[in-house]
Amino acid sequence: MVNYEAFLSNAAGHMQESGIRKIAAVGLKVPDLVPLAAGFPSAEMFMWDAFREITASQLTGSDPAALQYGQTRGYAPLLGALTEIMAARGVKTRESELIVTTGSQQGLDLVARVLVDPGDVVLVELPSYTGAISAFRNAGATMVGVRQEADGIDLGDLDRILAQQRAAGRRVRLLYVVPNFQNPTGLLISAAKRRQLVEWAARENVLIVEDDPYGALFFDDLSTEADTRPIKADDSEGRVVYLSSFSKTLAPGFRVAWIVAPEVLTSHFEVAKQAIDICAGALDQRVVFQALKQGLLAAHLPELRRHYQSKRTAMEETLRAELGSLVTWQTPRGGFFVWAELPAPIDTDRFIERAVKHGVAYVTGSAFFVEGAGSGRWARLSFSFPPADRIREGVRRLAAAVREEIGQEAAAAAGVARA
Ligand SMILES: Cc1ncc(COP(=O)(O)O)c(C=O)c1O
Repeated sequence: MVNYEAFLSNAAGHMQESGIRKIAAVGLKVPDLVPLAAGFPSAEMFMWDAFREITASQLTGSDPAALQYGQTRGYAPLLGALTEIMAARGVKTRESELIVTTGSQQGLDLVARVLVDPGDVVLVELPSYTGAISAFRNAGATMVGVRQEADGIDLGDLDRILAQQRAAGRRVRLLYVVPNFQNPTGLLISAAKRRQLVEWAARENVLIVEDDPYGALFFDDLSTEADTRPIKADDSEGRVVYLSSFSKTLAPGFRVAWIVAPEVLTSHFEVAKQAIDICAGALDQRVVFQALKQGLLAAHLPELRRHYQSKRTAMEETLRAELGSLVTWQTPRGGFFVWAELPAPIDTDRFIERAVKHGVAYVTGSAFFVEGAGSGRWARLSFSFPPADRIREGVRRLAAAVREEIGQEAAAAAGVARA
């Protein structure tokens, strides 16, 4: 018998399975489960007919490059289209600052490989996106959490943590933030704070990694496009590495995303990417480009926003009706997630088993905290994927599970009191 553990690299030994994927895997084994766990976009909204036609048009054989290796930087016409998308978001971008990545997840991996040495400190929001945590962990980073408030990251806490880390002799390289409808909290960083963050990065000589897959999905009852203006838009010094993706707007199956960064850094991302996948998929990039060129994304976005907004409302209405004040959350102004605090004494890590037995899954809060503290009562409920009637059913099941759990806890407490 070969002892394969003995062959593993140190890095492999430190890698951890994604908390989200783990729960998604449990969920798949339960028939009729309502998946409020996975942050998948809505399959109801994929533009099947348009993509079928575009793909066929790319596969006539008249352009052999459609199935060939491409440039590591990305398909040139797509790079051009990305400069226009960035301009519409308020960011003047040269093509030399752009690189197409195989999903933003690869972008995060490239950022971590190129900018982080083992032991370096990466500051992250508390809680933060698990995929970024994994990428930084794989690079050997020490992640330190910064608290959030209703309008995003707490700048006082940011200063305090930075000073603390420096006093301890640690090198702080990056601050990672998801300013628009954060995964998992749904929070939006205010415009004033965004400007202050750019000033902070210059003053403290730190880079900001701005991850923005959800910015286009603002809900017009509570936010506007102006609220989602990237931090990068006011980055005159080149302190911000900006990532975005077509996963949540077109489809994640294409795995087409991009990074905008100062040229020097983009060149390093390019070299790192050469060793990972040589280039992002040629066909995927062409299909995405055609969708942009034909104006399909622009036409689709208002519909997408309405779709997700109505699902958010379905989730909130049912939460209120079924659980009243037992569960608290801040209404998301865009994106995919309700970040819910369940009533004491529920521990969402333990409670997930009961929830799954009732036929509903969520992601436990602990998956998103780099420091365990304060995670136990939180659950990320995604309203993006199931149809609205299933969201309602899922929340009803969650409520039944909560009532059962609290009932048992109350009974247990009463039992203790009697004893
Ligand atoms: C904040 C955040 N960043 C990055 C990603 C990865 O997206 P992609 O599909 O482009 O790899 C996700 C996906 O859920 C996300 O929520």
